[in-house]
Amino acid sequence: MSPSPEVARRHEAFPSVPVAWISVAGRANGKKMFFFGKKKSAHHIVVLPHPELCPSGEVVPAVVGKSIAEALVASGVELSHSCQFQCSCTTCHVFVMEGGAHLSPKGAEEAKVLAGTESDDRWSRLACQSVFQGGGDLVVEIRNA
Ligand code: FES
Repeated sequence: MSPSPEVARRHEAFPSVPVAWISVAGRANGKKMFFFGKKKSAHHIVVLPHPELCPSGEVVPAVVGKSIAEALVASGVELSHSCQFQCSCTTCHVFVMEGGAHLSPKGAEEAKVLAGTESDDRWSRLACQSVFQGGGDLVVEIRNA
């Protein structure tokens, strides 16, 4: 769905703000008011484009106490989770490119499971074990199908 002309103009004025974050809220003093996302949730998970799961990328609310996997699945991003968030399958493997400090620390079990993957690196996390703790936005890359 393409943005309305008003939202598109606003996006041109503020190109670093994703279109999904911009909405027209109404009028004040005869002028239209725009909000830049963050109305329902203080922070967001920005999902980088994935050819199958979200070709244009996605921005979903980050909920304190919920894992990245829970937040993505609840928002319609069909991240694989074969073991149903039990830290044993690695299908929810993601790369947290920004905001890793806002997540629960990587536990021993998660580190052990990730060590068995080929692409384990400092950004690697199991989305089902990465619980948002608040404090800022996250940028996540999904490389699995
Ligand atoms: S869903 Fe299986 S390890 Fe996360």
